[in-house]
Amino acid sequence: MKKSWSPSSWRKKEASHMPKYLDEPLLNKTLKEISKFPPLVFAGEARLLKEKLAEVSNGNAFLLQGGDCAESFADFHPNNIRDTFKVILQMAVVLTFGASCPVVKVGRIAGQFAKPRSAPTEVFNNIELESYKGDIINGIDFNERDRNPDPNRLIKAYNQSASTLNLLRAFSQGGFANLNKIHQWNLNFVKDENAVKFQEISSRIDECLSFMEACGINGDSVRQLNETDFFTSHEALLLQYEEALTRVDSTTGKWYDVSAHMLWVGDRTRHLDGAHIEFLKGIENPLGIKVGPTTKTDELLKILDVLNPDNHAGRITLICRMGHEKVSSILPKIIKSVKKEGKNVVWTCDPMHGNTIKSSTGFKTRPLKDIISEIQQFFQIHKSQDTYPGGVHLEMTGQDVTECMGGLQEITDEDLKNRYHTYCDPRLNASQALELAFLLSDYLKEEKLLSKQSSNL
Ligand code: PEP
Ligand code: CO
Repeated sequence: MKKSWSPSSWRKKEASHMPKYLDEPLLNKTLKEISKFPPLVFAGEARLLKEKLAEVSNGNAFLLQGGDCAESFADFHPNNIRDTFKVILQMAVVLTFGASCPVVKVGRIAGQFAKPRSAPTEVFNNIELESYKGDIINGIDFNERDRNPDPNRLIKAYNQSASTLNLLRAFSQGGFANLNKIHQWNLNFVKDENAVKFQEISSRIDECLSFMEACGINGDSVRQLNETDFFTSHEALLLQYEEALTRVDSTTGKWYDVSAHMLWVGDRTRHLDGAHIEFLKGIENPLGIKVGPTTKTDELLKILDVLNPDNHAGRITLICRMGHEKVSSILPKIIKSVKKEGKNVVWTCDPMHGNTIKSSTGFKTRPLKDIISEIQQFFQIHKSQDTYPGGVHLEMTGQDVTECMGGLQEITDEDLKNRYHTYCDPRLNASQALELAFLLSDYLKEEKLLSKQSSNL
């Protein structure tokens, strides 16, 4: 544990993108209450994820991290949780089967509520109110009652996270994730070529399972085939909430933030001397750092020293989000410097946040072709730097939304209005997510082949 660190030491630092609560006594009373709530995750689970991420950083597994940009209270429904889980399972199977690569599954779920915004306030009809900062902080409707940060929302967010996690644990360990049930992971509305390709994989997996059974191996008794590991993550933005859920693990005596297995720091708050880095340096969870086009390499290296002084593999995931136009000119230099310093990191690509545009019809959207282009360049850059492209970080949903353009459904700017439901950034729908998984599986297969060839030399 760092000497001068405590779960509240971030309070002495500059904390950007945090709300101003008008009712401080209520806020403090609420935080005290939350600090006595049960942990949402266990330290041992966070350690297991760190071990799995160490495998990713060594090139032996792939990280699939995804979910909503922002979870909301209004869309809280078991079917939505189930469908997001289904798509992640489908994508993981496509990658595991297609590229023979273990997949570490991490949801942006069960706690992904707080959002950094480009401006702290918003003006409409000459009225200035706080911007919408996520359901854990305020409401989306443009009126004073909704937009004032409300401490009661912290408890609601905790409760929603707890029940979401409860369901996810049941899905991942209670039989639903059994590979014998693979045909049930289909989402009825995906009826295009992606669904057909997934059916083909499912049938081949069925054949493998029948073959194993004929050889006397009962799939139901093999843990890896009848259940799965699924982890949770969110941006550690609202530090008061994270502080209230930071506890000493009785096994190791170390601090863990028990609000999620993995926490990441956003592109707007990763200041070396800021409150968010101060908070993250003292917790033992695996951490993500968003790396955007304005990243200064020197500062990033210093942040790595602060967050991972012992250079443990699996502790840090660098989530690169440059945009398809900038990635090839910026990322190679960053990779070179990190590699030169011998830092152990997982390299992942967030192809969403650098590719947001406004459609001609006025919607915030992301063209699938730009998303694919960034991923493709990400793989090529790692090939040329001889580093491992360890994963992707996606904003996606199991719902049949029309928020990102393109894909087999050929969603156009005119179609966006049909089912545009996001509270924040546009998400891939299930068909677009599956399409990406097939592409990723091809890239990963090639990557595996190349590394096999070079290790045989
Ligand atoms: C996000 O992941 O939703 C986000 C706000 O990303 P970034 O910090 O990379 O802008
Ligand atoms: Co987002």
